[in-house]
Amino acid sequence: MRRPSSGLAWALALGAFCLFAHTALGRQHNFNVKEEFKRVGIFECSQPEVGIQRPLGYYREDGYPTPDWENMYSKLDVQTRRIYEVVGQNPKEMHIQNLYSEGLEIQDSTASADIDLVVYERGGLSADTLQAVNSIGSDQVVEDWLRENNLEDWRENNERARPIPRKRPTDGKLRVVFIFGEHGREIVTTEMAEYFVKLLSEASVETLMPIFEDRTFVDDVLAALDEVVIHIVPCENKSGRRIVETPDDEDTYPRTYQLMNKTTHSKYPSNICHRPNSRGVDPNRNWPVKWGNKPLDYQAEQEFGGPAPLSEPEPRLLFRVYKSVEPISTVNVHSGMHGIFMPPDFSPLMENEVDLLAQVKLQDRLNDRWMDGKSTVGAAGYAVGYVAYGSHNDFVRTGFGVPSTQTWEIAGNWFTQFQNCMETYNPILGDELKEYVRNWTGMALEHITHLHKGLIPGIRSPPNEFSKEVAEIPNPHVCGITQAHVDAMNGLGDIAFGRGDRAERFAFVEEVMRRTPTIVMPTLDNPNPIQKNSGLPPSGQQIVEDLKKKVKIRREGASNYSLMMGSYTIMIFGLLFVTLSFYTYRRVSLGRTGRRGWRPRRYRVWDVV
Ligand SMILES: *[C@@H]1O[C@H](CO)[C@@H](O)[C@H](O)[C@H]1NC(C)=O
Ligand SMILES: *[C@@H]1O[C@H](CO)[C@@H](O)[C@H](O)[C@H]1NC(C)=O
Ligand SMILES: *[C@@H]1O[C@H](CO)[C@@H](O)[C@H](O)[C@H]1NC(C)=O
Ligand SMILES: [Zn+2]
Repeated sequence: MRRPSSGLAWALALGAFCLFAHTALGRQHNFNVKEEFKRVGIFECSQPEVGIQRPLGYYREDGYPTPDWENMYSKLDVQTRRIYEVVGQNPKEMHIQNLYSEGLEIQDSTASADIDLVVYERGGLSADTLQAVNSIGSDQVVEDWLRENNLEDWRENNERARPIPRKRPTDGKLRVVFIFGEHGREIVTTEMAEYFVKLLSEASVETLMPIFEDRTFVDDVLAALDEVVIHIVPCENKSGRRIVETPDDEDTYPRTYQLMNKTTHSKYPSNICHRPNSRGVDPNRNWPVKWGNKPLDYQAEQEFGGPAPLSEPEPRLLFRVYKSVEPISTVNVHSGMHGIFMPPDFSPLMENEVDLLAQVKLQDRLNDRWMDGKSTVGAAGYAVGYVAYGSHNDFVRTGFGVPSTQTWEIAGNWFTQFQNCMETYNPILGDELKEYVRNWTGMALEHITHLHKGLIPGIRSPPNEFSKEVAEIPNPHVCGITQAHVDAMNGLGDIAFGRGDRAERFAFVEEVMRRTPTIVMPTLDNPNPIQKNSGLPPSGQQIVEDLKKKVKIRREGASNYSLMMGSYTIMIFGLLFVTLSFYTYRRVSLGRTGRRGWRPRRYRVWDVV
């Protein structure tokens, strides 16, 4: 038994610890996501929550749904065989290239992967198209780039990070790339890929009219296809997909958890839920822009960025494709929700650039036409509910200078449980699957007509202007934009319609773009960027000051004060609790819970991109 004096000493020590913890807490707490969004004035946006809420216990007895491989979905090998058949039947217009990568060797082991790259050119594959595909280099291309670049510049995304120059003139045929199946569990995406490939292989008025029943649309599509070369990767992540197709083994943990040496698997209990590649790396976190930063709610088993940028075979393969094909547009097709996202992934604020503003307007219209407005449109880092570092899209835009890089989320049930991966990511009724595949393929074709008509500034049109057609689309309630973005859209609209003095309007647009605020999100290494770095360039700081006056945002002092008071309360309760439990149990264990207190309000939904 301990003497009372020793107990007192303990209580005092713990009290001192609590005071210290409280000080640290108060400091950390300065970053509050909600307050930050308010501070820079991000607008509310349309984020429909789509899905079916099942009654409690609905799936208890039969377990969660699994893919119906017999009647509804196709396994990867079956699908690949069928795609090769389709391509084989139209050798004049279609070609398929198999590419292989070993990835970076880590501890004497490689992680090999391959992709099939399907190419379609209406009227016949040109020598230029075939040359681009046939000259896709080996992993050496990636290694050369890694050697020639300062990866710190890319991690910081500073002005020294420069895109790879393009060799091919941009006024020729438009090259577009569609990626499917980056995440294994999103099996609806590979269904869309197969449908898209089949539809292209026989595209004509006769085949497209029964599906889309709109002659103007079909004529526009066929005209566009005459000047666009489409590249499709039907399944980027074959190894992940194979895990998803493997039935669970009662005796072993699911593969994701084996990879992470986890001893529990309450959250994602099934192989159907597998997300990273076969060695546990998320390919959508393995690219150089902002690589290796970890958000505060980082989930190692879901979004491990790998031991080095471009260490994984999947991003290496795509890097090699982009380097040779030099696309003007990429669409990375995922599922888990309904969404159409623009860069960046690393920030909740959309970049205020002419082509992105035009794209959100166009995509908002496409969303109404093909998805009855169900999709969330805007900056990925806001729309998806979390920021991501080292993502595919952020690199494709910055590193390859691709003007149109979008991520599409083509299906999802918002109201399912985490463990129910089949229904979270994929339609589970046959008719529903057909409708989704048809509608998003329609959207893909219409997106191609936009590229062809020059509606996205910089692609067959001046880079700094809206066309009249884009200007006519009402300003949408998309995610990740501020008054500066709306002002820019209005200014660009005036220019398109010839309202006001042209030079004055251009100067206005430039000025509002310059005043776009920025947010530096907290990371595990830098949990409080506000203190270390104001997070705003001087012009941004100014606009925030103006906004504060205009909308009476609570003064920062006041909110800090309330947070400080909050942490005093925690301290007092902490002291009370600790002292009481000390005298009750004579032993105190703070356990692991103490570390989570300072995290900002999570705005993560779940991992879709
Ligand atoms: C899992 O354990 C193995 C063997 O101990 C080790 O080599 C590997 O690095 C571990 N993986 C992770 C992600 O910690
Ligand atoms: C491959 O799919 C798995 C399973 O969904 C996923 O975890 C992983 O991130 C994917 N890999 C790549 C390179 O996309
Ligand atoms: C697909 O498009 C049709 C017709 O445009 C529309 O009625 C239907 O609701 C769409 N399906 C979905 C899932 O949005
Ligand atoms: Zn995904």
